[in-house]
Amino acid sequence: MTDNLNIEEFLSQVHEVGKNFAQRWERFAILVLEPNRPEFVNGLESQWQDDLTTLEKAKTALRDLNEVRAQMLSKKGEIAGLKKMIGRLPQVRRGEAHQALHGLEVHIINPLGNAEDNLQQFVRNLEIERESIDVTIPGRRPRPGHLHPITLMRQRIEDIFVSLGYAVEDDREIETDFYNFDALNIPEGHPARDPQDTFYTTEGFALRSQTSTVQIHAMQRRGAPVRMIAPGRVFRRDTPDPTHNPMFYQVEGLCVDRGITMAHLKGTLAEFVHRLFGPETKTRFRPSYFPFTEPSAEVDYSCFSCGGPGCRICKHSGWIELGGSGMVHPNVLRAANVDTSEFTGFAFGLGIDRTCARIYQLDDIRLLFENDVRFLEQFR
Ligand code: FA5
Repeated sequence: MTDNLNIEEFLSQVHEVGKNFAQRWERFAILVLEPNRPEFVNGLESQWQDDLTTLEKAKTALRDLNEVRAQMLSKKGEIAGLKKMIGRLPQVRRGEAHQALHGLEVHIINPLGNAEDNLQQFVRNLEIERESIDVTIPGRRPRPGHLHPITLMRQRIEDIFVSLGYAVEDDREIETDFYNFDALNIPEGHPARDPQDTFYTTEGFALRSQTSTVQIHAMQRRGAPVRMIAPGRVFRRDTPDPTHNPMFYQVEGLCVDRGITMAHLKGTLAEFVHRLFGPETKTRFRPSYFPFTEPSAEVDYSCFSCGGPGCRICKHSGWIELGGSGMVHPNVLRAANVDTSEFTGFAFGLGIDRTCARIYQLDDIRLLFENDVRFLEQFR
């Protein structure tokens, strides 16, 4: 296989490879200029597909450039092929052949390297530019939130009672049987436990089924006299329907002092509905039963919409239920270590959800918990 190639043939092969490279190189030629020169970008824009962005064109050019490099300079590339041919030349001509090949190699490697460096720098610059933040672009205006209708309702109730001299108490939602039932004069086995059945957690703990639990905590903490309201969440095993939720809000009221009578209770709740619904609003007390009050009464107020004759809002009765109330049972005062020979008190418990639904004329209290922003946005 040696000596079967003459130098002229070899040089003409070298020339062929050079020509071939020159052809392929044509579209890259401009890229040996500095990447910040307009000719560089123009060359890139015109030589690579129109539907690409400038950055994509630069990345494609880099890939194309690597292909040319592989074709020319890889182990199986054109230069390697020529190198192998040198062994077939007569010994005396091999030096000349090496020189010619070296010349070609330099002719290829240098511009390839320059164009590659330039393209890489160009890509880096574009990427940095793209990632930088334009602080002059107008921002997206945040959508301000607003209070939930139940919170608005709770705040209105709080404002009224605070102005009547009541403190606002906040207390735990997980309770022991003692606070939820026993201390409220509902011993184990008492039928009043049934309608207030709740959710039990671990042994001895349950989610409170009414805010009346706070009566005990408040009296234990503050002693007597005490005047407080306690708004908060309560839980019951009630099946959801338009007027029931298994989780809802109540506000408890408690006033314990010397000489407190049913008249104070009536006067306080009458004043409350006057302030909430208007001075013409009337109250009505119906005898009722709660184990923790004696006597007990359900409180109604005259319909704020029709004022009495009956309408859709008051279900044509002229009256709307506010909640339960009564004089605090002596057993409850005793459970909280209050001296029953000195103090008496009244208490009441109102449902915030139902009152809220009446005021906003909602047919279904479940709407208040569906968290549909389109619905909630209407109450600001
Ligand atoms: C009580 O919970 C008593 N603790 C109220 C009380 C306090 C009486 C102090 C005497 C002295 P009642 O179970 O009726 O009472 O509930 C009071 C209010 O809570 C009701 O008028 C109603 O507005 C609301 N309510 C009751 N159950 C639900 C429910 N499942 N979903 C929404 N609201 C409810």
